[in-house]
Amino acid sequence: MSKDTETRKVAVDLGARRYEVRIAEGLIARAGAEIAPFLRRRRVAVLTDENVAALHLDALRAGLGDIAMTALALPAGEATKGWPQFSRAVDWLLSEKVERRDIVIALGGGVIGDLGGFAAAVLRRGVRFVQIPTTLLAQVDSSVGGKTGINSVHGKNLIGAFHQPALVLADIGVLGTLPARDFLSGYGEVVKYGLLGDAAFFDWLEVNGPAMVAGDRAARAHAVHRSVEMKARIVERDETEEGDRALLNLGHTFCHALEKATGYSDRLLHGEGVAIGCALAFELSQRLGLCAQEAPSRVRAHLRAMGMKTDLADIPGDLPGAEALMALMAQDKKVVDGRLRFILARGIGAAFVATDVPGEAVETVLRDALRGR
Ligand code: GLY
Repeated sequence: MSKDTETRKVAVDLGARRYEVRIAEGLIARAGAEIAPFLRRRRVAVLTDENVAALHLDALRAGLGDIAMTALALPAGEATKGWPQFSRAVDWLLSEKVERRDIVIALGGGVIGDLGGFAAAVLRRGVRFVQIPTTLLAQVDSSVGGKTGINSVHGKNLIGAFHQPALVLADIGVLGTLPARDFLSGYGEVVKYGLLGDAAFFDWLEVNGPAMVAGDRAARAHAVHRSVEMKARIVERDETEEGDRALLNLGHTFCHALEKATGYSDRLLHGEGVAIGCALAFELSQRLGLCAQEAPSRVRAHLRAMGMKTDLADIPGDLPGAEALMALMAQDKKVVDGRLRFILARGIGAAFVATDVPGEAVETVLRDALRGR
């Protein structure tokens, strides 16, 4: 693979709320032309964080040309995603006199996209917003599909709204500024798409993943495009997660327990937890006789080959025992009527939602995985 200059477009077809995800290098440099058709007056308000502002805000200002831009940079990090910074953002938007027909831009990773989208959802009972995701994780997952929100003391993402963006600009050029660990963390979500519903994509990742991580633009564009396509089709089928959208949570039940156990700290990034969680979900599927032993072995081999965290042993520091991890899973917001919903697989690319998973099987998988530490 080599250079890739075309703009790839994925429509998320939700009737009156249809929008496009545009994927290309250089979208920030031409943001004005991309966004102008959505504007009723030539003015935008940008929410971002301090790290992203230092890297990309000047480029966005230049790209917007004669569209006036005002910006608020919040502190970087997950701690921003709570009431204090949220109310600061909303009050700032009001002080900037953002009107009902204006556009808010969320420029950043998942924290800014989720918080900015939620601010847009509640401002004057809802204004339109444009997502400009700057991390791989945000480009392939959180910027698409309209889940917006903040964290509560009771848990992550418990306060929020479904509010679809008007446009998503995934500029793959900005991925070059990501630290390697953050890029690989986002790759955990990319692998998830292959594992949940597209075996051929997983085959492609096995061959092209290393080039993608090394910086191959065409490989990056293809991987982001295919991931977004898969997410768009699932969101179209089930916007508010009554059924199929739960497939996007492959690996996430294990991941959420591990994130809680490690205090949402630097010990385990979200995408790293997703990767380990996917490996555990395939292990569990195999133990339940749903898929061949080859499947979890291939998942783990690929994660290892990519230099990713793959096993519980790759998480630094102590972890609680299997029983305590089970208790953390039981607090997951995916619990329905007290029963854990798991995403299991009949093979690579063949995931399904299971509601009747025996707790003992899950605990055994965890116990064995902890023994490997
Ligand atoms: N990140 C999972 C979803 O959007 O449903």
